[in-house]
Amino acid sequence: DWTPDSFVEETVAAIQEKVGSDKVVLGLSGGVDSTVAAVLLNKAIGKNLYCIFVNNGLLRKNEFESVLNQYEGMGLNVKGVDASKRFLDALIGIKDPEKKRKAIGNAFIEVFDDEAHKLEDVKWLAQGTIYPDVIESVSATGGPSATIKSHHNVGGLPDFMKLKIVEPLRAIFKDEVRRVGATLGIDPELLGRHPFPGPGLGIRILGDITAEKVRILQDVDAIFINGLKEWGLYDKVWQAGAMLLPVNSVGVMGDERTYEKCVALRAVESTDGMTADWVNLPYEFLQKTSNDIINKVKGVNRVVYDISSKPPATIEWE
Ligand code: XMP
Repeated sequence: DWTPDSFVEETVAAIQEKVGSDKVVLGLSGGVDSTVAAVLLNKAIGKNLYCIFVNNGLLRKNEFESVLNQYEGMGLNVKGVDASKRFLDALIGIKDPEKKRKAIGNAFIEVFDDEAHKLEDVKWLAQGTIYPDVIESVSATGGPSATIKSHHNVGGLPDFMKLKIVEPLRAIFKDEVRRVGATLGIDPELLGRHPFPGPGLGIRILGDITAEKVRILQDVDAIFINGLKEWGLYDKVWQAGAMLLPVNSVGVMGDERTYEKCVALRAVESTDGMTADWVNLPYEFLQKTSNDIINKVKGVNRVVYDISSKPPATIEWE
């Protein structure tokens, strides 16, 4: 019978046998899969695992610092690389969602390749690929691993992609990954995190991306997500986030007429993201959240709640 304990024991032994005393590099995303893969590898090979955590400038508010701290606290050999400016520069003027994904994916590959080059003698690339990623041969997503897949067709691979691959989670499902993570002692809060797309807030800012828009959306998102946690709603929702719309609308402030931004909040129930239903969040919660956002986030004067299900409305707006 499959148990997380026996999985850990067997996988640690298999990793040790496979990579021996070679060095391994792994990209951490802050998500469940890459974190569990890293902790497993760390258990197997310790300091021969070199983790790289890239700030693409499109993460949630304070996420880079707090997750990096958490990784260090878990004893991982991790290097945080703040490449925000590089990503934002690569995105200037780009409005099309797929072009944004490409730009973000390419910037990630460049940054990761630069960092991997600074490590000497690395032989292996570890990835947090799980079974559904394996069977989903053509991925529609633009996260790190998906980008690497689509990039294979282009030719001229970056050097780190010539490394041998180790994927300790490739035979198991998400719920099993979470159980393995729990057995490994990973913080339950980290294991219970909502999915977050690789391109991050980049595909939640409709239209072109600027540092100011990122700041606005980070603040809005933080109020929404922290509110869900405070109201005990976070674990009842599969995924939640805010979208910054390319729309200004009229408001009044005292005697002044304002013309400011509109944000849409989205929370869905789902099992795999393929279909999703919007969540019937309590009106009192929506009311409080909307007030907080409008009072605290400069530049936003209107909040709407997305009541569309998938299909046809995708979870992300881009
Ligand atoms: P959609 O918007 O297609 O999203 O209903 C389904 C799930 O996939 C995530 N998603 C992405 N993840 N790169 C990713 O790594 C992407 O480009 C991407 N686009 C969507 C989305 O957050 C949801 O969990």
